[in-house]
Amino acid sequence: MKSQKLYIAMVGLPARGKSTIARKLKEHLTKDTIKTRIFNNGDLRRKLTGENTSHPEFYDSANTQGMALREKIAHINCLNAKRYLHTNGNIAILDATNCSYQRRKKLIHELTGYPILFIECINDNKEILKASIQRKISMPEFKHLKQDEAIKGFEQRIIYYNQIYKPLKKEENFVRLDSLNNRIIEEEISNGIPYYDRIRDFLVSDAVKNLYLIRHGETYFNLENRIGGDSGLTINGISQSRALSQYFISKKIPIIFTSEKKRTIQTATPIKESQENSLIIPIKEFDEIDSGICECMTYKEIRAKMPQVYSNRKKDKYNYIYPEGEGYVSMKKRINHGIKKALYLSGYPQTIMIIGHQAVNRMILSHFLFRREEDVPYTYIPQDKFYHVVATPNKKLFQLIKYNSQP
Ligand code: F6P
Repeated sequence: MKSQKLYIAMVGLPARGKSTIARKLKEHLTKDTIKTRIFNNGDLRRKLTGENTSHPEFYDSANTQGMALREKIAHINCLNAKRYLHTNGNIAILDATNCSYQRRKKLIHELTGYPILFIECINDNKEILKASIQRKISMPEFKHLKQDEAIKGFEQRIIYYNQIYKPLKKEENFVRLDSLNNRIIEEEISNGIPYYDRIRDFLVSDAVKNLYLIRHGETYFNLENRIGGDSGLTINGISQSRALSQYFISKKIPIIFTSEKKRTIQTATPIKESQENSLIIPIKEFDEIDSGICECMTYKEIRAKMPQVYSNRKKDKYNYIYPEGEGYVSMKKRINHGIKKALYLSGYPQTIMIIGHQAVNRMILSHFLFRREEDVPYTYIPQDKFYHVVATPNKKLFQLIKYNSQP
């Protein structure tokens, strides 16, 4: 009978999304009653070494002491993983960089009895990497360092790993994954890798466990029905943002994604301030639709001064592109890119909050909830309610929730 047990060994430089993928796999596989456990070298290092191992030189392969300690940690996790599979576990995920051939040869030598699937996470997007490092250094092991020292140290750690990094090639079973876009770049799979169809499916799916999709509070432009621009919140808008912060006070919101526009950042600020440890990350891709020559006009003005624009847009709102601007159809690519960024930076398990705009939120919703294109520009995006979205292979939920906009 074919073996129903498997080792998965993660591969990749630091901050490439390995742990996120590992956690995502564990959760989905466990829901499918496949017993899965993660053996993370970083966690074990932090548990075992009372001493500080956050300084970059610890990761220099020329540092024999550091190397010996890291090899020892890898060895202990191999033993733990083996024990797990030899008792009742189905899948043991070894979550570490496993960057060099040498380390992977050791894994192959030690992890006997069941097949090994290597999963390499690749992402060289500089902007994402910068934001990921920013998140990493909020971990307790960097607390004693100033922010720029911690960033430099982490970047140096990556440089050390890069010196020994060899992409997967010789291994018998492997997947090379673009971990930002959930796209398989290369795969080499022999027969007899249990659960591979399911694993593959999870690797390429855009699941979101908990998304709060909020529109910014009321602005001065909203009062006049004026579009685009970079208007600030009205008193009512500020009160809405405070009410939101009260609504979410008992929930943990580690990151609030906004656009780069004032109104979304202003809406996010009280929420961030009422959270213990939260970060606002503005994402340019979430900026409102660019209405080109119509920016800052009211719909009434457009109708009077540019009747052609008004009527053409009305005829086919989804496909209409504002002169010198955008349309829903042309926003799709950047919105999808923004969603990938937000999912990547959120890690797993995720609670994601996005504070966006009317057209942007319509596009984000349609990414997770199938809508006919012609219906997308008419999706209801109010300012006194928000959407709670769950979209996983096992569950789909789209709930419009009213919060008390007068706290
Ligand atoms: O009116 C607010 C707003 O966010 C504008 O900035 C934007 O042009 C518009 O909504 C998008 O909605 P619609 O596609 O319905 O015009």
